[in-house]
Amino acid sequence: MKIAVVGTGYVGLVTGTCFAETGNTVTCVDIDQEKVDKLSNGQITIYEPGLEKIFQRNLKEERLVFTTNLADGIRDAEIVFLALPTPPGEDGSADLKYVLGVAKEIGKLLTDYKVIVNKSTVPVGTAKKVRDAIAENCKVEYDVISNPEFLREGVAVEDFMKPDRVVIGTTSERARKVMSDLYAPFVRQGNPVIFMDEASSELTKYAANSFLAVKISFMNEIARLCEKLGADVDMVRRGIGSDDRIGKRFLFPGIGYGGSCFPKDVQALVRSAHEVQYDFRILESVMAVNEDQKTFLVPKIKKYFGDSLLGKHFALWGLAFKPNTDDIREAPALYIIKALIGEGATVTVFDPEAMNNVRKVMDNVINYAESQYEALDGADALIIATEWNEFRTPDFGRIKERMKGNAIFDGRNLFDLGEIEKLGFHYESIGRKP
Ligand code: UGA
Repeated sequence: MKIAVVGTGYVGLVTGTCFAETGNTVTCVDIDQEKVDKLSNGQITIYEPGLEKIFQRNLKEERLVFTTNLADGIRDAEIVFLALPTPPGEDGSADLKYVLGVAKEIGKLLTDYKVIVNKSTVPVGTAKKVRDAIAENCKVEYDVISNPEFLREGVAVEDFMKPDRVVIGTTSERARKVMSDLYAPFVRQGNPVIFMDEASSELTKYAANSFLAVKISFMNEIARLCEKLGADVDMVRRGIGSDDRIGKRFLFPGIGYGGSCFPKDVQALVRSAHEVQYDFRILESVMAVNEDQKTFLVPKIKKYFGDSLLGKHFALWGLAFKPNTDDIREAPALYIIKALIGEGATVTVFDPEAMNNVRKVMDNVINYAESQYEALDGADALIIATEWNEFRTPDFGRIKERMKGNAIFDGRNLFDLGEIEKLGFHYESIGRKP
């Protein structure tokens, strides 16, 4: 099939590359000439495990092409995916200016039937708005449908190639047939393509992310309670997770969820609910709990150092909002760093992938180490903010040698309590007995 993907951000690039991988010809369109030049020359613009290899292969086979020209990009396409940014506006609702701007342009360019697909996370009612924006100038038949994306950063290629489910919102039989054919190679194992009306499909995306945010925040509150009651959250997690109705995944307490999706989507759903005079109380609490959780370690650190962090020096491992990505959007690490600096402390950081992104926003307010061990030099304490695999079984001897103090504050519960105690560290984590 011939496909166009408008927007070569994270979702657009993964979508375009993975559709090319199953033999489709994909033209990716972006207004950013520099980005299009880079991509056309084989320079990938995002870090995502496994993507580079299939990107290079499909680029070479000319199944993947990049252009800044929307007309050229969509001319031969049967399906046009919109993977455009929907940043939160001032009131927290998703701003549709990019999506609707491109829809208007597409309306002027359509000469034959195409399926226009909203891939970005967009509020309920957006398919209709896109349809109306296209209709302003369009004389031919077309369908606008919703097909939300459930990719996780770090495992996006796997999620795309073998989705748990594909959700498609449309009542058009014609569009349904086109989308069934497109996704057939991705659901060979029998995972479902679930067709529904467009409003339900649009809401499904927000409901999925918000539910996961609820699960995480619930466990973060259970962890706080464990500390007060002398229970161990790891045990409680295992105890409840083995009930199929609850499930083992997304029950790990920590220093809050971050990233470009959960914070934005929870906020947008609360906002959408307000617009129809509904007060989404659970999600309002989730936002408040998560806000507090990001800096949950800071009072613990202050208490340990007798309430003043003035002149203290910290090593911080992990800047990305989660492992296997260089994404630092809403990363708890940044909130911790700001809080420590605000208390008069200094910080040296290390992250395997996200250092450059942090340099752009923090510049020389903090120090940057070349390795996880170099970061420890002279530190009064080590703080762990992201659960990268390489932090899981470190050389504790080297940690001790290089640090000035012996305290570890772990926001991701990486180490075994008994083991770490034997090694002579002062160790505090989330929801477990110190
Ligand atoms: C999330 C969803 O998982 C994807 O299904 C969705 O497609 C995507 O948002 C999106 O809307 O585009 P992502 O933001 O990449 O994916 O990251 P997750 O792996 O879901 O993690 C989100 C946050 O939750 C991270 O900060 C992580 O540290 C935190 N988390 C996750 C916990 O604190 N505890 C857990 O048990 C699991």
